Order: sequence, then structure tokens, then C-alpha cells
Amino acid sequence: FKMKLWIPLLVVIVIQLTTALVAPEIEDTLDIIHDVDHVVNIVRSKIVNWDAEIGDDQDKRKMMLKQVKDIDQQIFQVLLQSSHDDSNVMESISDFIDDDAVTKLQLNELIERLNKISMRFDQIIEYERRKETLEENTLISFAEWVVLPSAESVEYSMERVHLKLFGPINNKTDVKSTSHTLLSRIMKGYEKSSQQRCSILLSPQQLLYSLYTEIAIIELKGYILMEFALKKMRVSGLGNFTDEADLFRQSHTRRNQHALNVLRIQMQQADRSLWRCDPPTHIAKVTYDEVTRLLQGYIENEDGLNADRTCRRTCGDYQTTRVSGCIHDSFCSNQPPCTGRVHDCRFIASKMWVCQSPQSSSRRYEYIEYEDGQLFGHRTSCGRGTNTVDSWRRWIFWHCHFCFCLCDEQGVKSDRYFNLRETLADVASNKVVTGVRFVKKNRIFHLQIQQGQLLPRGGINVSTVEWKPVDDYHIHHPNVREGVDFHTLSYGSRGIDLTKVMKTNDTTFVVTGVRFRLYRGRLNLRLRYSKFDFVNGKLNESVWESNEQANERLNLKDKDLPTNSRESSKPLSADHHYLEFVNSGLYADAAQTTVPFVDIQEVSSSRPVPLHGIGIYYKSSSGYGGFVAPKIIHYDFSPHVKMPLTF
Ligand SMILES: *[C@@H]1O[C@H](CO)[C@@H](O)[C@H](O)[C@H]1NC(C)=O
Ligand SMILES: *[C@@H]1O[C@H](CO)[C@@H](O)[C@H](O)[C@H]1NC(C)=O
Ligand SMILES: *[C@@H]1O[C@H](CO)[C@@H](O)[C@H](O)[C@H]1NC(C)=O
Ligand SMILES: *[C@@H]1O[C@H](CO)[C@@H](O)[C@H](O)[C@H]1NC(C)=O
Ligand SMILES: *[C@@H]1O[C@H](CO)[C@@H](O)[C@H](O)[C@H]1NC(C)=O
Repeated sequence: FKMKLWIPLLVVIVIQLTTALVAPEIEDTLDIIHDVDHVVNIVRSKIVNWDAEIGDDQDKRKMMLKQVKDIDQQIFQVLLQSSHDDSNVMESISDFIDDDAVTKLQLNELIERLNKISMRFDQIIEYERRKETLEENTLISFAEWVVLPSAESVEYSMERVHLKLFGPINNKTDVKSTSHTLLSRIMKGYEKSSQQRCSILLSPQQLLYSLYTEIAIIELKGYILMEFALKKMRVSGLGNFTDEADLFRQSHTRRNQHALNVLRIQMQQADRSLWRCDPPTHIAKVTYDEVTRLLQGYIENEDGLNADRTCRRTCGDYQTTRVSGCIHDSFCSNQPPCTGRVHDCRFIASKMWVCQSPQSSSRRYEYIEYEDGQLFGHRTSCGRGTNTVDSWRRWIFWHCHFCFCLCDEQGVKSDRYFNLRETLADVASNKVVTGVRFVKKNRIFHLQIQQGQLLPRGGINVSTVEWKPVDDYHIHHPNVREGVDFHTLSYGSRGIDLTKVMKTNDTTFVVTGVRFRLYRGRLNLRLRYSKFDFVNGKLNESVWESNEQANERLNLKDKDLPTNSRESSKPLSADHHYLEFVNSGLYADAAQTTVPFVDIQEVSSSRPVPLHGIGIYYKSSSGYGGFVAPKIIHYDFSPHVKMPLTF
């Protein structure tokens, strides 16, 4: 009978605690944590009020069911608002851990338990639909089934899910103690599997967060079920269950605290970058585009390589020159001359057969076959017929050899321009960059941005996400200036830095603009960052950042066309690398193409996020010219994984 005195007191305390905590909390936690907390608060306040409702049992029953349904609507809103309502991450996970039997087994148990909780919750929503005819006993047995200790109870399921995913609760949660959790193994498996990353298009950190979101929603349903069932038992006079409710809430809080600690630690470890693998098939102008005719294999007679029109030297003496003329009836009169500079000449053999490419092609030659058997390019049927090209003697001493050189010629067939103008997200409407891709427009390469409206807590308003159209200018427009609006690649200036730009250890900025500038004669990425308020999502002042550490050139000599590779490309560059656009290999392609190609696939997450950095990198497979491509590094959410005050 002492108990009787205590219980009202307890109830009063619980009521006061709950109402005190219902006050809206502003805290910089992640949206899902914040929203779940919000719903939990609604649940608690509603449940407290059930006691105060008047009316007969039937009315009370209907009211309770209706409230559960209302809460379900709230959950639906949470799902709708967070951009996490599309695909099922859990399912995709089972794909990439196929080869790890233990993990797979654990994952299966996890999914089964979560499904059970979900199904129970759906059942109560179904009861609501039939509330007019529902028997009191049905509800009571349902409540007992949820609450009473057994291997099937909701609380036991929730405990198992936690144990599996986040490991046992202990006082010291650190990298080591969390490295064996299922969560950690899932993340490591995902980081290793580049094909999966490319098809799911989430960074490992996003995957963790998305996974947590799915689980948190189901957990929330479990929580609501428990609260509902305990209350139902009580109002039906089956006991007071105040202690039970208290205990349950306590262990729920403990579990959540632990889960968030583990999640935060794992998210700190997780990679945040996203890049695109090769597409199943390379399609010109869809998955890749090209710089054309930057340096191109070109056959010219020594006679035409010097102003004196002599043949007294060797091909190797002509490292940078211009075409000075052409002897009538020789091969040079059968081909368009190189009107730009001619570089890097060399002697291959005296006599050759040259297959010229169709006039519409940006190639000059399909292939060249030398008398000594060397073959440049691939022998195909030659539509225009081959030209026989033979050196000749002038007087007796001088050989007028045909040299193999590189032609650096600007013209309508040579697309070699990069936009230097700023590309900015519409910060006036609070938009930030969420993705990038290269596009070639009017023969100029642009780094196009995907933009979306920034919401509170690092969210992006999915319905506003769009690719911002690139500047539609031509290089010949009046007021468009080389070196200011665009850069022209040439033999002397054809590099691009393979660096990533990040605002190191500062999570108060997000990317709101991009541009290339010329630094040490190379294209160098610059990013505009805007300061933002995590809680309200509002953008503030901006600053430009870049990365100037590139100092080592990647060697791209003598490569075949990347589209001929059967292997998929792998990222091969580091932050201190740069590359120069260069001709393809002599034997592979008669040096007719410019490599690397430019990957023009979209680089954006399947769940748009604000960005912390963007990089340019090089990917290729051995022996091939590869692709230059952008990658994105998204905003680091891990500092915001923490308990909201009210849990
Ligand atoms: C955990 O911490 C509590 C108090 O903070 C302490 O009483 C308990 O002994 C600790 N447990 C372990 C396993 O260290
Ligand atoms: C249960 O708690 C209520 C207060 O919510 C109290 O009025 C009632 O006396 C308690 N019943 C028992 C059996 O302890
Ligand atoms: C998202 O964008 C749409 C369309 O612009 C707008 O109607 C809606 O209010 C935005 N949502 C939020 C949460 O701001
Ligand atoms: C970045 O880290 C360094 C060293 O840890 C620290 O001195 C600096 O204040 C940090 N910068 C910011 C913006 O947090
Ligand atoms: C930027 O933030 C400061 C305070 O941190 C504020 O006074 C100012 O109005 C903000 N500017 C804009 C454009 O929001």
C-alpha cells in the first residue's frame, strides 16, 4: 500500500517532465534526429492527455487510435520533408555484402526484426480504419502482444536491432569499440565496392546516414507502439504500467544515445566523396566529350618546315616551326596544311602510305603505313584511297624527307576552349551547388552546376534542384575576350590541375560557385564558399578558395583512346598532380586524337546535399588516355549527429 502513495507522485513527475520538454528545441542536430525527437514529444504529450479525455470506452478507444493515425501522418511528413523517401537503402546493402556470409546473416535478421515492427505498426493503423466494429479484446491482446516480455515483443526486437547494428552499450564509445559493429562493416564494404557506389550514388557517409534514417523511422514506430500499448493496458485496468513505461523510456534514451555515438564516430571515418564510374558503354557527347585537334599527328616534308625551303637538316631539328610552303604535286598539296605551329618532328621512314580521313572528320589520317612495316593507327578500308608518300632527293646530297610532326592549329575543327567566367548558384534564393558536370557548349567546356535551395539542418529542397544553364556565349562574340572569358589551350598552355578544393576543417561554409582561372599557365579550379547557419539554413557572406599544390605532371604519353579500353577506369591522380592535354599514341592512333577525354556524366548525389568541396581528377586504365572528370565532396554532417536535448 505504500506503492499507492508513490504512484500519483510519479505520474505527476512524468507529466511535468514531459510537458516541460515539449517546448520546441532549437539545436543543430541533423534533420532526422530532430524530426524524430519532435514526433516523440508529440507522442508523449498526447499519451499524457489520454487520461484527461472524457467519454465512454468506445470514444476513448477511437480517440487513441485516431491519435496514432495522426502521429503516422506526422511520420509521413518527416519522410516527405527529409529527402530520404525514395529508394530503400537496406535492400541495396544486401547486394554489395553478398560475399560476406556472416554480415549477410546479421543483416537478414536486422531486416526481419525491422519488418516485424513495421508490420505491427501497420496493423494498428488498420485497426483505426475499422474502429467502429473493433472489439475491445482485440486491442487488449494486441497491446499485450506488443508489451509482454517475449522474443516477439517490440522492445526485444528494438534491443536486438540495436545490438546488431551498433554493438553493446558501453561507457566508452570510440573508433576501436565501434569498428566491429555491423554499421561499420556495412560502411567499409560499401567504400570498397566502387560499382555499388556508382550505382547507388551516395557517398559512404550519406549511406550511413540514410541507413540510420530508415532505421530511426522504424524505431520511432516501435516507440509509438510501446507507448500506445502500455497506455492501453493501463486504461483497460490491467495494471498501472507506470514503472514499465518509465523503464522503457529510459532504455530507449540509452539506446538512442549509444546509437548516435556510434553513428557519429562511423560518419567521421566515412568518405564523403562521390565520383562517377565509367558508363556501361562510352557514348560520344552523352557520357564523354573531347578536346579536338589540340596537338595532332601531321606529315610534312622538311622542305616545307623551314623558311629557306631547304632540306639540309633532319626532321628532329624541327621542334617548333611553321609550314612555309609546299612543293606542287607532292603529298602536301593533297592535304590541308597545318596553319598553326608545328612541333616535335621526327623521322620515321622514307616511304609511306597514308589513308586520309573523310573531310568531315576531325582526324587528318585514319592510318599511316611505313615501308619498314610500322603502322600508325588501325588499318581499315580506306574510303578516300591511300596516298603514296615518298621522300625525294634534292641535288645529290640532300634528302627531302617527310617528317611526322604535331600540328597545333586553331580552327573550326579544334574545340579547345575552357570557360573562365564565374558560375554561381542563385544565393539570393538561398541556392547552393549540389552537383557538377562538364558540358561543351558552343565549343567551350564549362563546369556546369546543379543547384538547389538550402533548407534548415543541411537539407536541400528536392523540388528546386536543377542544372543551371551555362553561359551561352561564342568565342567570336563581341566583348568576349580570350584570357578573361575563356582560355584557349595551346602547345604551351594545356594543363589542368587535378586538385580538390575544400575548406579544411571548417563546416560553416558550403559551395555556392565554381570557376576556372589560369594559374602557372594551367586551368585551376576555384570555388566560392558561402557561410551558412546550420539551424535556419540561411546563406551569408562568400569567399573564394583554391588549391595551388599541383606540381607533378602525370605522364600521358603514347596512350590509346580511352574508349577502346575493356577495363573500367580507376581514379589515378592525387592532389599534387596535374595533366596536360596531349596527342594520342602514334601506334595506337597515329596521334590523331586529343587525350584525355572529358567525362561529361553528371556528378551529383541521388539525395542532393550541400557540398564541402569539388575536385578535378584523372581516371584511366593502363595504356589508355583516360578521362578528366569532376568529383564532389559533400558537407560533413558528423558534427551534427548528437542527442537533441529532449530525447
Ligand atoms: C559506466 O559508468 C558508470 C557511471 O558513469 C559506472 O558506474 C560503471 O561502473 C561504468 N561501467 C563500466 C563497465 O565501466
Ligand atoms: C494507477 O495510476 C493512477 C494514476 O495514473 C492511479 O490513480 C491509480 O490508483 C493507480 N492504480 C494502481 C492499481 O496502482
Ligand atoms: C521547396 O520548393 C518549393 C518550390 O519552390 C516551394 O514551394 C516549397 O515551399 C519549398 N519547401 C520548403 C520547405 O522551403
Ligand atoms: C583547423 O584546425 C587547426 C588545427 O587543428 C586549428 O588550429 C584551426 O583553428 C582549425 N580551423 C577551423 C576553422 O576550425
Ligand atoms: C550575415 O551574418 C551577420 C551576423 O553573423 C548578420 O549581421 C548579417 O546581416 C548577415 N548577412 C546576410 C546577408 O544575411
